[in-house]
Amino acid sequence: MTAKPSFYITTPIYYVNDIPHIGHAYTTLACDVMARFKRLDGFEVMFLTGTDEHGQKVEKSAAAKGKDPLEFCDEVSQRFRDLAEFMNFSNDDFIRTTEERHKISCQALWRKLEESGNIYLDKYAGWYSVRDEAYYAESELSEGEGGEKLAPTGAPVEWVAEESYFFKLSAWEDALLDWYEQLPETVLPKSRKNEVKSFVEGGLRDLSVSRTSFSWGIPVPGNDKHIMYVWIDALTNYLTAAGYPNVDSDIFQKFWPADIHMVGKDIVRFHAVYWPAFLMAAGIELPKRVFAHGWWTNEGQKISKSLGNVIDPFDIVAEFGLDQVRYFLMREVPFGNDGDFSRNAMINRINSDLANDLGNLAQRSLSMIFKNCDGQIPEVGAFTAEDEQILSQADGLLPQVRELMERQSINKALETIWKVVSDCNVYFAGQEPWALKKTDPERMGTVLYVTAEVVRQIGILIRFVMPDSADKLLDQIMVADDKRGFDNLGIAGRLTSGVALNKPEGVFPRYVKADAS
Ligand code: MSP
Repeated sequence: MTAKPSFYITTPIYYVNDIPHIGHAYTTLACDVMARFKRLDGFEVMFLTGTDEHGQKVEKSAAAKGKDPLEFCDEVSQRFRDLAEFMNFSNDDFIRTTEERHKISCQALWRKLEESGNIYLDKYAGWYSVRDEAYYAESELSEGEGGEKLAPTGAPVEWVAEESYFFKLSAWEDALLDWYEQLPETVLPKSRKNEVKSFVEGGLRDLSVSRTSFSWGIPVPGNDKHIMYVWIDALTNYLTAAGYPNVDSDIFQKFWPADIHMVGKDIVRFHAVYWPAFLMAAGIELPKRVFAHGWWTNEGQKISKSLGNVIDPFDIVAEFGLDQVRYFLMREVPFGNDGDFSRNAMINRINSDLANDLGNLAQRSLSMIFKNCDGQIPEVGAFTAEDEQILSQADGLLPQVRELMERQSINKALETIWKVVSDCNVYFAGQEPWALKKTDPERMGTVLYVTAEVVRQIGILIRFVMPDSADKLLDQIMVADDKRGFDNLGIAGRLTSGVALNKPEGVFPRYVKADAS
């Protein structure tokens, strides 16, 4: 047997200064959906997520709660693992930067950077934002209402002057520009690539990569007065989980370089400038793609703790249902763009796409089979042009969806699948199987067979987004567990006439507004 192709996808690791919110759930969901898609498509997948636990921001948050940093990290990190389980995320590993394996990996990478002459000791004097964990040049700052200096993100900055190690980022300008140029799809969407490209073209300054004024982090090997800059520490997690520094290990050989680092648009610079520069300097292969998604607003407003409009993923799932929320987040906005979370839009998707379009199609056709065909997948007569047409639309979905997923056009992939759902509704209504019941029961059987077959294919095709609901649907038409991968789409897996169905039950309920009283 030939080895399966591999696919390594990562989420950013989440700061534990705060509990998980919709933004975190969104990034991980997008990776989960990509990971599930690839598994169904025959890949051996490693899907990594985790928590970013070092640095001044986390140290301060722990102190504010009167907690020891590790105890604080243990608690918040657990919330992220709970969220992963709750949202049915299929991550293969969960990394914490406070783990020993990660310390070993970071220190090994540091030594490589030092040995290759890319790190030197000097003094840093400049602006730093703890909230962003980022350094800023004077020219990037603006003035707040009270005259205080602010980073472009609106975060406050403070003046830092201390001994620091520097990474020779300036030496990697040309190599980075070549990378963007030669592999035009390494940073997506294109607008983000242009943004990082012009940042690099504007000239890179060496990067301060250690701090001495606090202690919550990984010590610099050979000089433990210095703590590594939290971003060097954090980015290295992607290597750690792939077995670094053991580059000869099976896992590293199989999964490095990563196929996709999925990130939010706010952290592209770290992933598409600093990270590839570190890797090139250490002689390590570069990731194949950094994809930056957009941000969610809540009913048109920026989500922030101070506005009190943070969306808790646990709450919305409790109200709308897990697969419903998964579907909405992936379907509502072109992946890469910003999106607005609104209750109306959510309810609309649930009632229109799920309950009406797919739910009714499945429920109506399967209950007709259950009632009128002895509860068995009907026999088929000769196919008409309409039958052939809708079947070939379903059979032709995978290559289209696969191509869209190659570019992380997740919402377009769903749109393409739903076009067939909607055409199948038109087919079903046009064939009027309920009228055929009296006039031509054999023809009715064929129409119901064709519809159930399309439902089977849609069921398999939506498993990557709505795994539980899809499986419920496939259970009803008795699709065996090992026949739910993409190699069973199309003619390969056609339903077998005569197989007894399970009693059909609605899989996608309508959202009915809870009674306010
Ligand atoms: N710890 C760093 C990442 C280190 S990766 C080596 C970090 N953590 S974070 O917890 O602040 O953010 C993690 C992700 O959540 C980012 O990709 C960010 O874009 C995403 N989101 C935070 N708020 C968001 C929205 N309102 N909408 C969508 N995603 C958002 O940055």
